[in-house]
Amino acid sequence: MQSEIVASYRTRMEMDRDTLLGVTQNILEQMTLGLQDPRDGDDRHRLMMLPSFVDRFPTGGEEGEYFALDLGGTSLKVVWVKIGGRTVVDKEIREFPIPEECYDTDNGTLMQWVVDSCIGMIQAHPVDRVVIGFCYSFACRQDNLDHGEQILWTKRFRGKGLLGKDVVQVLRDEFKKRNIDAVIPALLNDSVASLVGAQFLTPHVKCAVILGTGTNCSYIEHTNNINTLPAEYRKHGDHMVINTEWGDCKVQASCTLEEDTWVDEASANPGHGLFEKLISGLYIGEVTRRILLRIARETGMYSGHDSAHSKFEESGTFDGAALSAIYHDTTPRLSVTASVLKKRLGIRKLNRKELETAKEICEMVARRSARLCAAAMVAVISREFDNDETGRIAIAVDGSTFTKFEGYRNLVREIIDDILGDATKSDRLDIMIADGSSVTGAAITAAVEGTYVL
Ligand code: BGC
Repeated sequence: MQSEIVASYRTRMEMDRDTLLGVTQNILEQMTLGLQDPRDGDDRHRLMMLPSFVDRFPTGGEEGEYFALDLGGTSLKVVWVKIGGRTVVDKEIREFPIPEECYDTDNGTLMQWVVDSCIGMIQAHPVDRVVIGFCYSFACRQDNLDHGEQILWTKRFRGKGLLGKDVVQVLRDEFKKRNIDAVIPALLNDSVASLVGAQFLTPHVKCAVILGTGTNCSYIEHTNNINTLPAEYRKHGDHMVINTEWGDCKVQASCTLEEDTWVDEASANPGHGLFEKLISGLYIGEVTRRILLRIARETGMYSGHDSAHSKFEESGTFDGAALSAIYHDTTPRLSVTASVLKKRLGIRKLNRKELETAKEICEMVARRSARLCAAAMVAVISREFDNDETGRIAIAVDGSTFTKFEGYRNLVREIIDDILGDATKSDRLDIMIADGSSVTGAAITAAVEGTYVL
């Protein structure tokens, strides 16, 4: 009975090369459709493919002191950087965990808290003019670099606050209320900022992927291919960074489980971010917990927990870090697995079979995520391979699901090479960790654009 259930999960979640090629193909089609026409309402079969209006790249001549704000999935980073000669000469980063009440965007506290949090840094680095690059980890429809209306909340954020509003203007107004005349020349999605930051240091980076609490990918596209761009912008430069918002697509893959539907229904944004819910850090632990709970209910396994106050039955008790710890457990008695299950889910007295099953489920969920992520990466880089037939191409990846999860990283690389099926292309491809590149990217874009504004 136990092995039958595990085997049925395995059959659903493991995907062979042909299935993954199908996912790649499907994402490529969704990219093309998204570049042709703006996505209409809830159409999940076309990627958003949002023009970022980042079409001027650092020349290396930028210099001076700039600030960046990076509002991400779980924290705000406030950064001061000093730039000169294609290097970051000095920087200071302060990080603030997002307070619980700010996740409910209807109460209007989020941007007030953001601005309050950065006052200290601005006072610590007095400058003639406060120039800020705003890195914002949510989908915004931009019609310029310094203007963007928020389309959607994702991750743990809920409510209608800021939807349809220009988030840069809201931020400016908050600064004004505190008598700070801040110049905010650039609004960048975190994946866009990451691409700029990584490319500043490594020029052959053509694509940036975020794989943390949420997921996304940005890459450099020929402006001629971006139909959704106003005509005057198509003449502006040859290339522009596109924010694909790949987390909000629906892939035609049979690997989706009933548990994924439950996770979606219980999330802050049901029906949205379906790809993100299959692969990113906020959800993969929760899917694992639900699978283990079902196995427990249907087979009587994992009975060593107190069902009256059970962490096992509570959402959010098992996260991506717990999944990663079990995935990497190589101890002969699976003692790491036992300790994580006890600490996170309150399950005790685990026998060998229960430990092995938990480890296997963690591996399956991680592998499914890595496979889908690799298939999506191949879709994006195959466009870059078409644009550049000989040079080296690098993908920069940021986000804890990738940077702190070694086994996962190796798996993604292995699967990419397998899907590409072309050793020459594999040799030309670098996948690099770009930890923290988004804040650098936001500050650098502020520097590039600030030169024009000041
Ligand atoms: C957001 C993206 C963001 C990604 C990674 C997703 O939930 O929609 O805009 O880039 O998370 O932070």
